[in-house]
Amino acid sequence: MKNTVIFFAAVVFTAMCALYAPAKEKPSPAAGEKLYRRYCSPCHGDRGDGRGFNAENLDPRPANHTDAEMMSRRTDRDLYDVIYGGGRSVGKSTLMPPWGRNFSRQEIESLVLYLRTLCGCRGL
Ligand code: HEC
Repeated sequence: MKNTVIFFAAVVFTAMCALYAPAKEKPSPAAGEKLYRRYCSPCHGDRGDGRGFNAENLDPRPANHTDAEMMSRRTDRDLYDVIYGGGRSVGKSTLMPPWGRNFSRQEIESLVLYLRTLCGCRGL
């Protein structure tokens, strides 16, 4: 009897983990926005227009993510790669830091989804 109770408790616990874990991990623009406001806005600005409070200290200036013309020339993969590896990894400025060690794959995918809402555009 005791074993049966433990067994069912284990089944319920496993089912709850399966229900909650993927929902939390799934990339979303909302999750991307949270990260963006915290980690990207100081340079790229709260609205993504490239005018964060730190922007005037930087040369080249941080990218304007609301520029649909420029952003539509990047694939989602390009955006992922520059976030993951930083500017230098794609032949751009070292002033764009690498985030691959700070964020999970899902988090970077969320950032890419959010960038697409800022430009209102799709990739190549
Ligand atoms: C310390 C300032 C700084 C921070 C913080 C920063 N960036 Fe950047 N970012 C830059 C600069 C400067 C450039 C322009 C690089 C260039 O043109 O060579 C850039 C460029 C980019 C680009 C455009 C690359 C391209 O294809 O032209 C993307 C996308 C980007 N940043 C995303 C992000 C995201 C997402 C975050 C937050 C996780 C972030 N950046 C945080 C400074 C920053």
